[in-house]
Order: sequence, then C-alpha cells, then structure tokens
Amino acid sequence: MALYSEKVMDHFMNPRNVGSIEDADGIGEVGNAKCGDIMKIYLKIENDILVDVKFETFGCGSAIASSSMATEMIIGKSIHEALELTNQAVCEALDGLPAHKVHCSVLAEEAIKNALKDYFDKNNIPYDAEKFKETDHDELHAAVHGE
Ligand code: FES
Repeated sequence: MALYSEKVMDHFMNPRNVGSIEDADGIGEVGNAKCGDIMKIYLKIENDILVDVKFETFGCGSAIASSSMATEMIIGKSIHEALELTNQAVCEALDGLPAHKVHCSVLAEEAIKNALKDYFDKNNIPYDAEKFKETDHDELHAAVHGE
C-alpha cells in the first residue's frame, strides 16, 4: 500500500484555502514542539457561521494536507460545529495518515481551536475552557511511537 492516500496527495499538491484573511474575526497560531512546524488559521465569521477560513503553514506535507482538509470541513459550519472538529475526523476524511504523521493533523485542529478562542475572547463570548486544553505533544508522541 502506498504510504500516503490519494486524498492526502491531492490536498498536499493542491491545497485548498491557503492564504490569510486581512480582516479576520479570529486568528490562531500554534507550533508543534516535536518538529518546530508552525500553523496559522484565519476565520471570517458572520452570524456564528464560518463564511471563510484560510491557513498558512511552515509544516510538512501531512500538515498541509490536514489543514487543507480541515478548512474544507468547517467552512459553512457554525462555530460550535467547528469546535467539535477532531484531528481523527480530519485523518479519516483523508483516508488515513501514517502513524508517525498523525501528530501533524493535530496542528490543524489546535490552530482552529485557538482561532475560535481568539474570536470568543474578542467578543466576550463565554466558553468551556476544557475544550481548549493544549495537547501534550510528548504524550502524543509517546502514544504514537510507543515510547
Ligand atoms: Fe511537523 Fe508534520 S512533521 S507538522
């Protein structure tokens, strides 16, 4: 079996929604402690709906494919639905990632959550802080690599 699915290759070669949004309503930026890669997500929100989402990344191909897929999955959705997006759902939508690349998809999920948190903070919208717990990258790494 090929290392990467056709969907991963497609989203890596032709990533959707790359770029920035000048008057974004929420911006989230996260770094991956393991590899040093960076992900930035921009959200445009109208009446609680994500009308536009863009991303920029200094990340590997799996991070690019994950972010491209993740942005497609949340555009047109409500902010509450977007909050429920998990990296597992993104991986499934990509028909899987190799085990040692799963952490790359976490970058997209976390950047989206950070951007939503930024929006909530700016607009004094109350939220459940539990939903914004930082992923422990060491734990994730250990889980994936069995260390
Ligand atoms: Fe860093 Fe994939 S190796 S995001």
